[in-house]
Amino acid sequence: MFHRKNKLLMINIFSILAVLIIGLTLFSYLQHMEKQPFYAFCQNENKEDENASDISEEESVSLSAEEYREKYADGLALADGAFLANPKCRLEVSIAKQWLENEANGIVGAQYDFVFHNDSAKDILNWTMLVSVPEGSYLDSYWSGECNYENDVITIQPLDYNQTIEVAADISFGFVLMTPNNSTFHVEDCAIIFYRENKLWQHPLFWVLSIFLFALFIADLAYVVSSIRIRKYNLRQEADRRIIEQSLKTFANIIDAKDEYTRGHSQRVAYYSREIARRMNMDEETCRQLYYIALLHDIGKIGITDSILTKPGALTVEERESIKQHVVIGGEILKDFNSIPGIAEGAMYHHERYDGTGYSAGLSGDAIPLFARIICVADSFDAMSSARCYRGKLEMDHVVNELKAHAGTQFDKNIVRYMLEMIADGFAPVLNGEAEM
Ligand SMILES: [Fe+2]
Repeated sequence: MFHRKNKLLMINIFSILAVLIIGLTLFSYLQHMEKQPFYAFCQNENKEDENASDISEEESVSLSAEEYREKYADGLALADGAFLANPKCRLEVSIAKQWLENEANGIVGAQYDFVFHNDSAKDILNWTMLVSVPEGSYLDSYWSGECNYENDVITIQPLDYNQTIEVAADISFGFVLMTPNNSTFHVEDCAIIFYRENKLWQHPLFWVLSIFLFALFIADLAYVVSSIRIRKYNLRQEADRRIIEQSLKTFANIIDAKDEYTRGHSQRVAYYSREIARRMNMDEETCRQLYYIALLHDIGKIGITDSILTKPGALTVEERESIKQHVVIGGEILKDFNSIPGIAEGAMYHHERYDGTGYSAGLSGDAIPLFARIICVADSFDAMSSARCYRGKLEMDHVVNELKAHAGTQFDKNIVRYMLEMIADGFAPVLNGEAEM
């Protein structure tokens, strides 16, 4: 359990560290990318249409401003609404009005209105637009942007350096340009340099990491909740176990109280039996079950007259037969106690002998329930190693010899082996108080 908890904790720590490292790497990558400029080149879709934009010198010289507007109404209409497309952005250009500024010099004036759309998936920052214009043009005025004219290129920048064009938003600006040689000017080529604002949550990996962290959090929460429940359940089970154990010990004390020489006998037998079971590699639940069964192995003595139980001298044949009845009485008392399987058998068969000469059923060998065979050895050992009303306690050498002598006849010799081992390593015998454990 401890190792499992540690393993889970390590997995958690590593997962969170991995998410943090990937997250920080992603964040610094996005920060880096934010500093990289993007270039978008837009082209007029109507560039092929030469008729719309060119005015021959020959024709234009003789035209008045009014005539000019009338003649080139088609060209104006064509230029109006033309747009320059790019997958990341879109530039709409329209010529709001157009006039012959200076007939003598062939200077044509026009007002150009621009609408710049952000069609990309990210916000656009700090953009600059470069528009090529005919040689000899000059800017008359501009609005909603900072325009500069140099080397036949107009550079347009936002008035506010940090102006952001959000996703799907647009901005508008414009200028009035004077072009020479009686020619109109259609914006055909322009370049846009811009930076893109990388918001962490706009990156798919951010959501993958977030979902992973959220799943980790939910799994942790579920683990904590189930741990608390299991802990509560274990505590309740432990409390129930204590109630069972204390009740059974109380019964055992009632049995043993009938004879002052047998005080603590049932608890010691239970204590030895459980240890034999442990040494036989039985699981802890089985060992506990045997402990409970052994506690009540002599419960039938309740039905035996005190005068016989506590008689100091030798017993008559009738008295001995009467005492033997305690196994049958015990079995009868416990026959309905089925929440501890085998408890009635423990009381009934703990005086059976391995060779079949015991009582009360005369079972032999493996026909005797294993728990009863274990209790038989523990019971006999405790009887020999403690004082009785008819004799004092026997020397341990004598007890050991008795166990060895009756292994295979009275006792299951395999079980005697464990009992002898317990005596040899000092586990048995125990004093009254020690069997409380
Ligand atoms: Fe007994």
